[in-house]
Amino acid sequence: MKTIFSGIQPSGIITLGNYLGALKQFVELQQDYRCYFCIVNQHAITVPQEPAQLRQNIRRLAALYLAAGLDPQQVTLFVQSEVPAHAKLGWIMMCTAYVGELERMTQYKDKSQGRGEAIPGGLLVYPPLMTADILLYDTDFVPVGDDQKQHLELTRDLAERFNRRYGPLFQVPEIRIPRSGARIMSLQEPTKKMSKSDPNPGGYIGLLDEPDTIVKKIKRAQTDSDNIIRYDREQKPGISNLLSIYSSLSGKALEQIEQEYSGKGYGSLKSDLAELVVQALAPLQQRYHELIDSQELDQILDQGAARANEAANRKLLEVEQVMGLSRKSF
Ligand code: AQP
Repeated sequence: MKTIFSGIQPSGIITLGNYLGALKQFVELQQDYRCYFCIVNQHAITVPQEPAQLRQNIRRLAALYLAAGLDPQQVTLFVQSEVPAHAKLGWIMMCTAYVGELERMTQYKDKSQGRGEAIPGGLLVYPPLMTADILLYDTDFVPVGDDQKQHLELTRDLAERFNRRYGPLFQVPEIRIPRSGARIMSLQEPTKKMSKSDPNPGGYIGLLDEPDTIVKKIKRAQTDSDNIIRYDREQKPGISNLLSIYSSLSGKALEQIEQEYSGKGYGSLKSDLAELVVQALAPLQQRYHELIDSQELDQILDQGAARANEAANRKLLEVEQVMGLSRKSF
């Protein structure tokens, strides 16, 4: 059985973008792969987090993973900091990476903007930690949204560089991007991706947003003024984004949706889309509320950490042995 690894940061309430780009595929893939899904809380602290909020977001994210349909019997769901091998291999991968390649990462450039002298070092070394997350589990595929493509390419480079130096220890992973929903854009600035840490909540739909809020956010979504429903990312980013969300949630092709709405205005598409989003999130939100304060959630995370520690420690030991870090030879 092939192995999948992917993670989501508990840096806010996850958005419809995270759901369509990542979580929805996780659920679809869980039966056919050995799956490790991680709450990457050490990635979240690459920018400052308020401790009580972070603690709550970790729990919320765990409940949302399960509420979306992940089966804890099939997948290993765990919190990154509860598996110390991630940080240990992360250090080794930082030593494998070059500063120049890290400085070229788009996410680093975006997130370091406007911080002057106070750019946290973690923002620069985020990709080698992500590399470690993935390589610890002999991962074959990494299902992620389109924004993570560059980090995945770097992961492959670092794995190959390590393998050339020390022998073929790491599986070089492939990226897996969904056919639709790979890049959901902000509802307010449709040329920017939808992000859970966007200071403007009107830009994203949180998976826990109330139905009224979802309807309001979609009605206020920025569009052009020609009122023609046509998919064109360049010329019509706002309406194209709404069409992508519609297509991804309904499973209908973009052309079919364009035909169904031909001659109708944006108002009609927006109100049907709002209904579709509310309906899609309702069962997930109900299950979330059953789980969030349950002991079951803690048990699932404890079991997940135990399973992940076993696999990760095994790999880390091999790495330390081939590198000469360990007193025992390989
Ligand atoms: N807008 C998006 N459309 C499709 N997929 C997306 N993903 C993120 N945004 C979109 C995918 O969600 C997974 C988890 O992402 P993450 O939490 O690790 O970090 P991120 O990519 O930086 O997501 P955010 O929401 O923008 O978080 P913040 O605001 O904290 O930086 C990944 O698979 C990602 O591709």
